[in-house]
Amino acid sequence: MIKEIEEKIKKVLDFNSKDSNEIEDFRIEFLGKKGHISRYFSEFKKVKDTEKKEYGLAINKLKSTAQDKIEELKKSINCSENKKTNNIDLTRPASMIELGSRHPISIIRDKIIDIFYKIGFNISEGPEIEDDWHNFTALNLPLHHPARDMQDTFFINKDPDLLLRTHTSSVQIRHMENNEPPIRTISPGRVYRNEDISARSHCFFHQIEGLYIDENVSFADLKQTLLFFTKELFGKSKIRLRPSYFPFTEPSAEVDIYWGLNSETDYRITKGTGWLEIMGCGMVDPNVLDNCKIDSNKYSGFAFGMGIERIAMLLYQIEDIRILYENDIRFNSQFKDSI
Ligand code: PHE
Repeated sequence: MIKEIEEKIKKVLDFNSKDSNEIEDFRIEFLGKKGHISRYFSEFKKVKDTEKKEYGLAINKLKSTAQDKIEELKKSINCSENKKTNNIDLTRPASMIELGSRHPISIIRDKIIDIFYKIGFNISEGPEIEDDWHNFTALNLPLHHPARDMQDTFFINKDPDLLLRTHTSSVQIRHMENNEPPIRTISPGRVYRNEDISARSHCFFHQIEGLYIDENVSFADLKQTLLFFTKELFGKSKIRLRPSYFPFTEPSAEVDIYWGLNSETDYRITKGTGWLEIMGCGMVDPNVLDNCKIDSNKYSGFAFGMGIERIAMLLYQIEDIRILYENDIRFNSQFKDSI
């Protein structure tokens, strides 16, 4: 009997296969419930006492040899299967990660911020959902004032009154309420208007408004500040101020820059005049200062406001405003470098 076991050990040692079915059959033959090893164990009681020790050692050896063998063969097929399926070339260059790009509106907004930052303006921000006081009343637009119709408003709630801000002038009111002059701040942000008059219209756009309050601020300061700005941003050094009306500034003006008439496009965008309107401005109405508890006898100031979309369209020669909101990557990625 012991001899037979020794032969089986030899058979185990000689066994070799790369086929997992064959290895499984081999395992069942030796280690399975009805396999050789369990048979030898069940015959243990029949063995003579004197041989029991040697017999026991022999089956244990057979068992461990068979286990080791199966382990070894399984490992070797796993390795070769891995080699086959994970045929990965680690030296291959990785696939490119497409870098995103900043939206042209963000690029222009930051350019404008940088220009005013250079001359001492800080940045202020405020909520897009505003109340009537900050968006209208404090800006010298009392209830039922006809100028409220200048900006078609999205109202949210009557009491408490809530609306989507129609301009970032509301941020300037908040800034004046919380800061003492001298104040130099610009307020970039998204604003909303319910304009459904043309197919080109859209319900929100972006603005940057500026505010300067100190003692003895004059209209000349306003003009020089805007001239500096237009030189920096457009490289154009001729501007003109046309009288206009805003409830919160007195006097008020529209700012035109001289764009020139050097190409057909120039003719088209300036309607043959060479001039382009780029923003509104004026001296802050003393009523607005008083509303914000700033002494209008001591302080004066100017304010201005512009739409970022319009500036971006001029600088990048974008013809249709809608494309700015379509988020077409092919369009947006053209503006990787700021101008
Ligand atoms: N708030 C004005 C608008 O949205 C722009 C403006 C700001 C005009 C400051 C004059 C002074 O149209």
